[in-house]
Amino acid sequence: MAAAGLGLRLVSALALLAFSSCSRDADRVARLPGQPETPSVSQFAGYVTVNERHGRALFYWFFEAQTAPEEKPLLLWLNGGPGCSSIGYGAASELGPLRVVRQGAGLMFNEYAWNKEANLLFLESPVGVGFSYTNKSSDLDKLNDDFVAEDAYSFLVNWLERFPEYKDRGFYIAGESYAGHYVPQLAELVYERNMDKKGKAYINLKGFIAGNPITNDYYDSKGLAEYAWSHAVVSDEVYDRIKKYCNFKNSNWSDDCSAAMDIAYSQYREIDIYNIYAPKCLLNQTSPSSAAQAFFENDQEHFRRRIHMFSGYDPCYSSYAEDYFNKQEVQKAFHANISGLLPGKWHVCSDSILNSYNFSVFSVLPIYSKLIKAGLRVWLYSGDADGRVPVIGSRYCVEALGLPTKTQWQPWYLDKQVAGRFVEYQGMSMVTVRGAGHLVPLNKPAEGLTLINTFLRGGSRSPEATAHSRFREDQARRRGACGVQGQAHGVCVQSAASSSRDSPLETCELLLCDYDDERRPARHEPLEVPVSDKYSAHYSNNFHPCNQRKAPPWLHVGFQMTPNADCSGDVTREASAF
Ligand SMILES: *[C@@H]1O[C@H](CO)[C@@H](O)[C@H](O)[C@H]1NC(C)=O
Ligand SMILES: *[C@@H]1O[C@H](CO)[C@@H](O)[C@H](O)[C@H]1NC(C)=O
Ligand SMILES: *[C@@H]1O[C@H](CO)[C@@H](O)[C@H](O)[C@H]1NC(C)=O
Ligand SMILES: *[C@@H]1O[C@H](CO)[C@@H](O)[C@H](O)[C@H]1NC(C)=O
Ligand SMILES: *[C@@H]1O[C@H](CO)[C@@H](O)[C@H](O)[C@H]1NC(C)=O
Repeated sequence: MAAAGLGLRLVSALALLAFSSCSRDADRVARLPGQPETPSVSQFAGYVTVNERHGRALFYWFFEAQTAPEEKPLLLWLNGGPGCSSIGYGAASELGPLRVVRQGAGLMFNEYAWNKEANLLFLESPVGVGFSYTNKSSDLDKLNDDFVAEDAYSFLVNWLERFPEYKDRGFYIAGESYAGHYVPQLAELVYERNMDKKGKAYINLKGFIAGNPITNDYYDSKGLAEYAWSHAVVSDEVYDRIKKYCNFKNSNWSDDCSAAMDIAYSQYREIDIYNIYAPKCLLNQTSPSSAAQAFFENDQEHFRRRIHMFSGYDPCYSSYAEDYFNKQEVQKAFHANISGLLPGKWHVCSDSILNSYNFSVFSVLPIYSKLIKAGLRVWLYSGDADGRVPVIGSRYCVEALGLPTKTQWQPWYLDKQVAGRFVEYQGMSMVTVRGAGHLVPLNKPAEGLTLINTFLRGGSRSPEATAHSRFREDQARRRGACGVQGQAHGVCVQSAASSSRDSPLETCELLLCDYDDERRPARHEPLEVPVSDKYSAHYSNNFHPCNQRKAPPWLHVGFQMTPNADCSGDVTREASAF
């Protein structure tokens, strides 16, 4: 959401742009300026045309998964704004493998990058954001949620033509902030187009996850006000005025309400509303490079002290992205602004898009209900130190869905510390990240990675529990527990995505100890099996397929045991982990 920098000056000069040929190989980025020598990063960047008549093209940056990309799902990440760049925020400041370092001097490898578990696609959306453009400047006056979703959908279809190996891949959509609208809306569009038998493309959409998402204007505004009061940002008097004058049920706030809310916003001006306990960036964000220079020269010591207070976190991250992506050699290596005719500078957020955007959707909760019913995996997470889209409003939103509770609100852990809380409903989960602000992957990278891994792996229990199972599984594999062909072990978690009250399903991740030609053991086989009392006995016992005269019924769903299996191994089911 953070709007930094001047608005883009998009003029008709756009009509003169010329762009690269559309092929996968042409999009490969060998190495970006200032990128570390190791580890190697398999990356692509370029334009995808989304509307030929108007000449609209969206810019993307794509990272293959760090290991076994052919087995990992495809994850699209979107930032919000409207007007903010998923490359400047998501990729270069939050969850991408290459993050921009101070003053845009280069890139560093992010060991908590989300492409550890997924093929990771960042999209600058809609046109007018970052390097994405339209040749018809009047398009920029028509931007609303429908427009954004349609173009993002066209992008996906055309991108998958360029990268056909991902066509059948499990596909997930993630994003934060105003992407709280984009993410479910795009998911809905994909879902609808998939149903259309005449549709030209099928996208294997599995679910979505939204972080600190704008979801419902009533609950989010109410949450903002309550959060400001309960976190000692505003006085009792201001809060009383807000309660008296604001009902938030109508997007047209009364003058009295606007005046009261303005006081609340003004209290946030001196701190970072997106991360209320963090230091504020003191750089002059309207002119990042020169301001950064001046700042470091004048006040380096002071700056270092402030940064130290909040170790590992630099509040000026978005200025660095602007420094970096405005370098000509970076744009060239990146296949962006190829002809050099994109006007103005690259900005991490475009004020002009924010100002002209037509906000016409009050709530996306009906889409949640629809897609939960359709069996998609749906998660919402929230950094609980965000004042802009606070956890309070998100809780109201999720509660308003009226889903039956499956697991009560409870903590989850990382390194034996409470990392946040989670609650599971029939059909969706909500997870909080303790002490993180609006940008969870930036503020709490290890927690963020655990969270996305758990989501992608279909865990519906606490993120830590599944991460733990995964760890135990890896450990078992290293110990050679898989030395025997025909063995299997794994974890089964009830899958929120596929559960309905009539036929709950469990997803079992099995480590299958069969060998391929190179005698590499261990492939993972996710199986969805019906849950019933009949089977539950197997769940609570240690599981050894060979110990059963009859293999557990659900085992037959996905594969046959090898007849000559040697059953001497020690195969356990990680029942205790969750
Ligand atoms: C925009 O216009 C330029 C110049 O006519 C053209 O080369 C380019 O392909 C157009 N972009 C799109 C996406 O059609
Ligand atoms: C918004 O409310 C004001 C009065 O509070 C009214 O004058 C105005 O017409 C309303 N605008 C819309 C678009 O409903
Ligand atoms: C900061 O930005 C303001 C507004 O653009 C400008 O007037 C001022 O000179 C800038 N200050 C520095 C130190 O660059
Ligand atoms: C595009 O490249 C030209 C030439 O290097 C540069 O002047 C312009 O600022 C760039 N546009 C953007 C949006 O970065
Ligand atoms: C804003 O979007 C809504 C919904 O698509 C549309 O009905 C309305 O006409 C748009 N308003 C403007 C000013 O374009």
